[in-house]
Amino acid sequence: TQRTLVLVKPDGVRRGLVGEILRRIEAKGYTLVAVELREADEALLAEHYAEHAGKPFLQPLVDFMRSGPVLAAVVEGHRVIEGFRSLAGATDPTVAAPGTIRGDLARDWGLKVIQNLVHGSDGEESAAREIGLWFPAL
Ligand code: GTP
Ligand code: MG
Repeated sequence: TQRTLVLVKPDGVRRGLVGEILRRIEAKGYTLVAVELREADEALLAEHYAEHAGKPFLQPLVDFMRSGPVLAAVVEGHRVIEGFRSLAGATDPTVAAPGTIRGDLARDWGLKVIQNLVHGSDGEESAAREIGLWFPAL
């Protein structure tokens, strides 16, 4: 079986969408292994977003991710990495397909950072790395 790291970003927590997002994950049949509401610090986020080092949206993204609490979760199931990204939909919520978390619940607010409610690991290597960062005890 496989595990992935899911984050409900500060926009999702602020808008009261934690329950709706976890509901979709559970309704799909995946299992919650660990869940924690917390405020991420700059060092954690710099590591989490290491692949985006040097990109113009990195600092606005990190500032946004520090604007309020984040719900971090480890989710388990066969092919859950691919499966959660399918549930989440495309990065840009304007064009994310209806039926997906981003397509149904997010939109473009004209801000410097794309506020798209959720993060999901994009492969086995990043999942292992991100779970180690957010849940070192697992
Ligand atoms: P995550 O699951 O959050 O990692 O989304 P993703 O894998 O669909 O996107 P990616 O890893 O490429 O980017 C991480 C996050 O950075 C996105 O979810 C957006 O919040 C933000 N982001 C990505 N690309 C852009 C961009 O071109 N401009 C801006 N402003 N933000 C971006
Ligand atoms: Mg990504």
